[in-house]
Amino acid sequence: MAFGWIDEQAQARRRAGLVRILRPRPADSPLLDLASNDYLGLARHPEVTEGAVRAARTWGGGATGSRLVTGTTELHAELEHELAAHCGFEAALVFSSGYAANLAAVTALAPHGSLVVSDAGNHASLIDGCRLARGTTQVVAHADPDAVRKALATHDGPAVTVSDTVFSVDGDAAPLAGLAEACREHGAGLVVDDAHGLGVLGDGGRGAPHAAGLAGADDVVVTVTLSKSLGSQGGAVLGPARVIDHLVNAARTFIFDTGLAPAAAGAALAALILLRREPERAARAREVAAELHARLTALGLSAVRPDAAVVSVRAPSPEGAVRWAADCRAAGLSVGCFRPPSVPDGVSRLRLTARADLSGEQIERAVRVIGETRP
Ligand SMILES: Cc1ncc(COP(=O)(O)O)c(C=O)c1O
Repeated sequence: MAFGWIDEQAQARRRAGLVRILRPRPADSPLLDLASNDYLGLARHPEVTEGAVRAARTWGGGATGSRLVTGTTELHAELEHELAAHCGFEAALVFSSGYAANLAAVTALAPHGSLVVSDAGNHASLIDGCRLARGTTQVVAHADPDAVRKALATHDGPAVTVSDTVFSVDGDAAPLAGLAEACREHGAGLVVDDAHGLGVLGDGGRGAPHAAGLAGADDVVVTVTLSKSLGSQGGAVLGPARVIDHLVNAARTFIFDTGLAPAAAGAALAALILLRREPERAARAREVAAELHARLTALGLSAVRPDAAVVSVRAPSPEGAVRWAADCRAAGLSVGCFRPPSVPDGVSRLRLTARADLSGEQIERAVRVIGETRP
């Protein structure tokens, strides 16, 4: 039977407790949200939704074409200018998603004969970028500049190191200064994915590369998503103008993809303007994460110390994690649940996201529910 193997895979997933289901979220959900990536609480901020509405009214429901044909509006150009200025880079290029931005950056910067050195904890979109790239990939130990150094030493020719800045599973930060140093010793480029750093790390949320003193460097390229702290949708690559020009000419997920919807561009631009006016939101997200971590570990739970706004709490098993998340939900709290194959090490976790707009009472309630429902 066609696709018969799908049923065998489904059965194996059921046996392993790894079945995923979709749960449509009502607009007026009563759940306290510690599962989304809306770190700054901006997705439903009136200025951000108004930015989306205004852009849709002005430019239409879609971008109408690929970026090189009709899909570049003045709004896209303004967003690119503002993103580059905010994060301290020469230029920026907006994509329809952070996923597409990562595929673009890795594939376009890893030609035939090149080496891509990739951290073992990287996000799936960077991994897929490595898979699509013409260069050869070497996966190295997590957050280990010496491992990067050793890998680069094996290769003669163009090379690039790719890493998340904040790892999405455990919320730990990459040693960016050490990675940049290792790359510079070997004349290699550094591509970092700041999906979980933008809006949270660095002065006023300028991101992890800015905090590490790497903003504007001619050998550093940064990818971001507009879908987390900026509360919108889409992605971008930031870097030297010559790299951005190269992507316009060579990156397939830029060239062969319809431009970002104007509403998403308008929302992201409004969020960026708001963040510039209220830079304290970034520090508040970090404070909430630190408080969640302190209170959960005081209950005896095993949680990774957060470097940004992701708090990861160990669960005993995939089934235990699913049950724990379901019990939290039944008690009015929405939390993320990470388990294989989304985690590289087979350890299941609850994944909590700190939001700058959580009140003291909400933090207290969240901690109480997680403690009371622990397996
Ligand atoms: C580290 C990281 N990079 C890239 C992405 C993809 O971004 P987007 O959702 O905009 O495609 C995500 C998650 O969504 C992520 O966590």
